[in-house]
Amino acid sequence: MSLLNQIDKNNIPKHIAIIMDGNGRWAKKQGKERIWGHQAGVESVRKVVEAAAEAKIQFLTLYAFSTENWNRPKQEVDALMELLVNTIVAEVGILQKNNISLKAIGNLKSLPGNCHAELQKAIQETSANTGLSLVLALSYSSKWEITNAIKLIVNDILNNRLSKEDVNESTIDQYLCTHSIPDPELLIRTSGEYRISNFLLWQIAYTEFYFTKKLWPEFGKEDFYEAIIDFQHRERRFGLTSEQL
Ligand code: FPP
Repeated sequence: MSLLNQIDKNNIPKHIAIIMDGNGRWAKKQGKERIWGHQAGVESVRKVVEAAAEAKIQFLTLYAFSTENWNRPKQEVDALMELLVNTIVAEVGILQKNNISLKAIGNLKSLPGNCHAELQKAIQETSANTGLSLVLALSYSSKWEITNAIKLIVNDILNNRLSKEDVNESTIDQYLCTHSIPDPELLIRTSGEYRISNFLLWQIAYTEFYFTKKLWPEFGKEDFYEAIIDFQHRERRFGLTSEQL
């Protein structure tokens, strides 16, 4: 029986973010090139998106390509970009059919032209969908995002569109790429690494972390449900005591 049935439907996290890690090591274990691992990683993306839709999660954010990933060998970067475009083009129909809207966060202008164009097209085409929002973090890093937000805020202050006195935490929220997305309640990282790697630093102030040793290509629907069930057994105190909750 699927673990989906053990999930408490009254305590579903609105937003789950995932650091998909371990594609390269998975490929190496099979004696294959790293890109083989990324291709297998797309299968896990497909399974987890389906699982998130079935569990009625509202937002699923996937760390697909970081700012730092641009420094990988050119051959791997090119292959990842090609994989991304091909996956978006191939899957947009499935997203439509399942009422899923595609969104993206990051320095999208830095993506190759065709990748940027196909991404924008898919975002546009699925924008009216009301089910799961699938958010791809692409050419994303939190320090880039926060720096960008500060520049936008300073610009608005200098142009009298915002006063310095009005800058508070929710103003900063509004200037981040995630302005229309609630903070994640749960962050999953695969592959046995215990790092945040420049991901959603502002947004994870009170997020629960779930680490698994499974490599991303080994991660499937039941693993995703297991993480949600684990989350549901935690007491989230937000700085208060147990008695105050
Ligand atoms: C981390 O594994 C994975 C990535 C940097 C890329 C993730 C991309 C995909 C799963 C495919 C495309 C995604 C979408 C949304 C279509 P790693 O290469 O860092 O693995 P390693 O730590 O074992 O080397």
